[in-house]
Amino acid sequence: VFIELDGNGPMYQQLTRAIKRSVVRGDLAYGSKLPNTRDFAIELGVSRNTLRAAFDQLMAEGLIEARVGSGTFVAYAGLAQVKKPSLRAVRAQSRFSARVRKIKNFAVASMHKGLRYNLQYGEPIHDLAAVDSWRRALSHAATHTKLEYPGAQGLPTLRQSLCDYLLRRRGIDTTPEHILIVTGTQQALSLTANVLVNEDDCVALEDPFYFGAHHAFTACGARLHFVPVNEDGIDCSVLREESAKLIFVTPAHQFPSGAVMSMSRRDELLSLAATKGGWIFEDDYDSEFRYDAKPIPALKAMDSQDRVIYAGSFSKVMFPSMRLGYMVLPDALIKDFVLAKRVMDFGNPSIEQAAMARFIANGDFDRHLRKVLRIVRERRKALLEDLNKVGRGQFEIRGTDAGMHLIAWMPRMTHTQCNALIALASTHGLGLHPVEPHFNKRPAIPGLLIGYAGLSTKEIVSATQLLDSCLSKLLDESISTKKSGRSD
Ligand SMILES: Cc1ncc(COP(=O)(O)O)c(C=O)c1O
Repeated sequence: VFIELDGNGPMYQQLTRAIKRSVVRGDLAYGSKLPNTRDFAIELGVSRNTLRAAFDQLMAEGLIEARVGSGTFVAYAGLAQVKKPSLRAVRAQSRFSARVRKIKNFAVASMHKGLRYNLQYGEPIHDLAAVDSWRRALSHAATHTKLEYPGAQGLPTLRQSLCDYLLRRRGIDTTPEHILIVTGTQQALSLTANVLVNEDDCVALEDPFYFGAHHAFTACGARLHFVPVNEDGIDCSVLREESAKLIFVTPAHQFPSGAVMSMSRRDELLSLAATKGGWIFEDDYDSEFRYDAKPIPALKAMDSQDRVIYAGSFSKVMFPSMRLGYMVLPDALIKDFVLAKRVMDFGNPSIEQAAMARFIANGDFDRHLRKVLRIVRERRKALLEDLNKVGRGQFEIRGTDAGMHLIAWMPRMTHTQCNALIALASTHGLGLHPVEPHFNKRPAIPGLLIGYAGLSTKEIVSATQLLDSCLSKLLDESISTKKSGRSD
């Protein structure tokens, strides 16, 4: 038994305190037998009478008990033995928590660590020069930024820089008073859920859907109305069936199908929101990456009725760890959103905001944009060329006009074969990801959601070769199984 004396006062009192500590901490377990006083006294280097005096005191306090003919036992269950309720066993303490617990975990960060090549959507472009110029901008901002709390709406300089940027690149004519700085699209969604949606309110989501929007509106208890997407974008005829309070869309590059919303569909959607009195959430997450076609202005740029809540993010153009984004809000809503942001976190950190304002104003951001656009364009070209060469004609590639991902549909394969391909590729160090979990209704044919921003062109070439060999192996195996099935 480890007994630690504190050196204060008579020895029997020190012993009493030390044994008591061990019992209370649970080091001496409830019901366990203490050594007999003779052996224990020798072990402790004290006289037997001193130890007896300590035992008498502990017995008087009910911490130990003597059982005739058996010895002395611990009679108190210490802390370690009081069963701690496991966190899992505690039921959700609010309806919000209960709903959040049920949300399926879509990893936004890298899944399947340790793969040689991971064709995962959401991987950042590792551009060391960008990290370096961002480090310099941060360091300058750190020495020039006031240390007091920032305003909840965001630094005026950043909001002004964003106004100029949004007019130039997205055709949005707004003022700093209508801009709210947030920690990314995800916070924009959570704020929108809080400000606009009550439990059981109808929120329309595109099907296939963006999991971040699904999470935010599930968490607030919205009734989700899944609306199919075709090549022109969200199907407004289905939207008309319900009066949704909010319609979530990704018009520039539908996530994940890649459809670009046509002009006529945009008109239709805006007039539907105006007549039904609903709001539209425009998630403009990757519009900077547009390739063969002319850039299309944001839906917000056409929003004459002021029904569109616009969200932009630096997660794609810079990196997701930055957690910086912005909203352009309708006049009728901006005050409520700023109040909600204040309640949520008092505002974004000033240093990052000041750094970004300067980064945009001094032209670094535009230079960076041109560079990453070139990088991602090259990666996309390498992937498209290779996917067209490999795969024995199994792939139908869609959603390539913009963004940093595409879908490789496999119309001649079954879902089971697609899963087998993913499993086989993983054993060869290649990360492949099905598109199916992003659908509310399982698509008729399987497909892979392929993100290409995070791999170099060289890696993309190797990854597609690996994909080709896995696919060939799988197809050859299934042909030989069929043949042997026939000959049996
Ligand atoms: C559809 C969509 N919207 C928005 C984002 C960005 O979210 P955030 O700004 O919270 O990083 C992503 C990131 O992957 C996305 O896929």
